[in-house]
Amino acid sequence: MSNLTHQEIAMNTNAIYAQRRARLAQQIGAGGIAILPTAPEQQRNRDSDFPYRPDSYFYYLTGFAEPKAWLVVTGDGKSTLFCQPKDMEREIWDGYRLGPTDAPAQLGLEAAYSVAELDAKLPALIDGRDAVWFPFATHKGLETRFDGWLGALRARVRYGALCPKTQHDLCGVLDEMRLVKDAHEQATMLRAGQISGAAHIRAMQLSANMLRTGQEVREYHLEAELLHEFRRHGAQSPAYGSIVAAGANACVLHYRADRGLVKGGELVLIDAACELDGYASDITRTFPANGVFTGPQRALYELVLASQEAAIAATKAGARFTDPHDAAVKVLAQGMLDVGLLDKNKVGSLDDVIEKRAYFQFYMHRTGHWIGMDVHDCGDYTEPGEIGQVTTRKDALTGDTIKDRPARILRAGMALTIEPGLYVRPADGVPEHFHHIGIRIEDDAIVSEGGCTLLTRDVPVGVADIEALMRA
Ligand code: GLY
Ligand code: MN
Ligand code: MN
Repeated sequence: MSNLTHQEIAMNTNAIYAQRRARLAQQIGAGGIAILPTAPEQQRNRDSDFPYRPDSYFYYLTGFAEPKAWLVVTGDGKSTLFCQPKDMEREIWDGYRLGPTDAPAQLGLEAAYSVAELDAKLPALIDGRDAVWFPFATHKGLETRFDGWLGALRARVRYGALCPKTQHDLCGVLDEMRLVKDAHEQATMLRAGQISGAAHIRAMQLSANMLRTGQEVREYHLEAELLHEFRRHGAQSPAYGSIVAAGANACVLHYRADRGLVKGGELVLIDAACELDGYASDITRTFPANGVFTGPQRALYELVLASQEAAIAATKAGARFTDPHDAAVKVLAQGMLDVGLLDKNKVGSLDDVIEKRAYFQFYMHRTGHWIGMDVHDCGDYTEPGEIGQVTTRKDALTGDTIKDRPARILRAGMALTIEPGLYVRPADGVPEHFHHIGIRIEDDAIVSEGGCTLLTRDVPVGVADIEALMRA
């Protein structure tokens, strides 16, 4: 544990946000101005709102979680916050507001004003800048708001006002910054992974214990364990809708935790993880409901695990984003031939299975995605310096023409998931003992020079380890 006081911790994190804003200022250039609103509050129904979550870009640059706030960063490195004014009556109902008087010192910003002054102050802040930067197509009505500020500025050109000549999408710059995680982000993501791992362990053990003692187990019983464990450790919420899929439900990729019966002899697929202090984790484990794999379940499980190991081995600085996927597909496709999911006489060799995408019948998603503040995090999947190198091909299954550009080269500090799976729906020629088995194994990785660090391995993945855990 650190010996720092709360105020010292706040000042340390303020320095992190200040460094990020300084990097942003550098990138928009001395004549630039970046303007960024946080997320709007979302009505759930009538006068109930969804729990508030700030915009990821905004929080990345400020650490400020109140709604109705805007950040303005100018190329000279100054940051101005517009936030809700202090209002005792509103604070009695909705809670504490920092307010513009205390915001600069508390958050380490140069200036702050009430958000009610935004329209009055923005034209003057934009006046004389070459370029405005704002996130394109992300905040409803933002362009109209800009038009208003630029219109107000144009009305004053006869009095010496200077309008910016260009507008740029702020998302691109921030996406590149967020793609490589700094030490603070990596530490938060590791903690999120640990909490989520503990939640999976708890759900696995509950399933086996309830079945052993003759109780009826439903998907929501396991979901309740996950939520309890997330919150118990201070995680604010699940990072995405929890999937708790018993038996055949595991073959529905976006199934949600519902009321399905969890039966001994069947597998359970849980894809669930928490969000902690603005950062997501994303874990999937598949386990036998009663703690003991059947022969066919074990055969397919070990195949998915081997494909994940191949994908993990392919995840390192200098590799392409697609390398882990290609490695996983190779193992899965060979395994499909070996176990009889695919018939060699019909689909041909391993190369044919890959070329014609015959494996797609049982493995129809990618092996990973960026992860960070958003579970499917921002960041270009194409290597920016090679964007012009386009090749086209006809997709073997759909006949669509696909444009391929070189995939992103992985660098130390990038974070991605590694999540191969197999989903077997009944079909002609598919051995019956594999029907309705759905398996995915998912871990979160931070790329390093020689390989990657897995953030989510507190929860076991090996067959023997899962069975031992569920006996406990
Ligand atoms: N849980 C969302 C995903 O695995 O991508
Ligand atoms: Mn994922
Ligand atoms: Mn997932």
